[in-house]
Amino acid sequence: MPAIASSAPGKIILFGEHAVVYGRPALAVPVHSVQARAVVRAMPLAPQGSVQIEAPDIGLSAELNELPEDHPLAATVHGVQKHFGVRRIPACKILITSTIPVASGLGSGAAVSIAVARAVSNFLGHPLDDDRISSLAFEIEKLHHGTPSGVDNTVITYDLPVFFIKGSPNLIQPFHVALPFTLLIGDTGIASPTSSTVADVRKGWEAEPARFEAYFDQVGEITRQAREKIETGQPERLGELMDANHALLEEMGVSSPALDHLIRVAREAGALGAKLSGGGRGGNMIALVGPENASRIQEALKSAGARQVLMTEVGAVS
Ligand code: PMV
Repeated sequence: MPAIASSAPGKIILFGEHAVVYGRPALAVPVHSVQARAVVRAMPLAPQGSVQIEAPDIGLSAELNELPEDHPLAATVHGVQKHFGVRRIPACKILITSTIPVASGLGSGAAVSIAVARAVSNFLGHPLDDDRISSLAFEIEKLHHGTPSGVDNTVITYDLPVFFIKGSPNLIQPFHVALPFTLLIGDTGIASPTSSTVADVRKGWEAEPARFEAYFDQVGEITRQAREKIETGQPERLGELMDANHALLEEMGVSSPALDHLIRVAREAGALGAKLSGGGRGGNMIALVGPENASRIQEALKSAGARQVLMTEVGAVS
């Protein structure tokens, strides 16, 4: 039996971070230049029921039944088995690899769950449909994050941009990109827990509710306009919206000198617009670039100190 392989992209928030915590919409898109991959290979000579899990990137090599029930990889495989009422899987080895940086807002946990669930269900001869893959990955996200918004599993499963309002599963809406566009994702290399920037924005909002509500309203409006530009084939118009969104994030106090520096470098090198992405203070910035000067801007960001700069085309057929 040939090996069965499946892969899943990363994701990044394009517009609306922080305001989304206060009920405004946000937009997230898949990132194809990084991938999680799972390969299932039958091991006919291994003892019956042996399922070996190998994840060299995280130094894991174990039998499935040695892992705790709530280990995300074990929970994913068990989730697929439970769905089909299969008590035992034919002896196999599951190899998991990923180029998605972990804990950096790129959806690595969800992408791994999705790649594994797809590969295992295909191996069992019953490929799960996208709705089931997405809801299984959402259950696994709860083990990682407690109260996930549902964005990562949705963007990554359907491999489409998603417009979402937190806490409303029916308001997670995948939509089509009329014309592909290119993004650079520059990592400041500075670790910054999302929980602390979220807490600081809350303090600001508690101290000056009217001021912060006005920021959130403006960000919500920018996000709605961005969706319209993407759906109507005007991605070049996203640049000015990114700049406007970043200015509001700066006002909220979640940017940082390192982010502002990379954003300035990207704009000066010819990006159509740039902003921080995710929690802020560190982590990643994104820049909208034309294909003709993408590599040059990527180099400029690296020379300016970005630890890694990914290039990804949103809406390209993968
Ligand atoms: O970097 P990420 O993908 O974890 O995004 C954080 C987005 C925030 O709006 C800042 C927080 C949240 O829970 O939505």
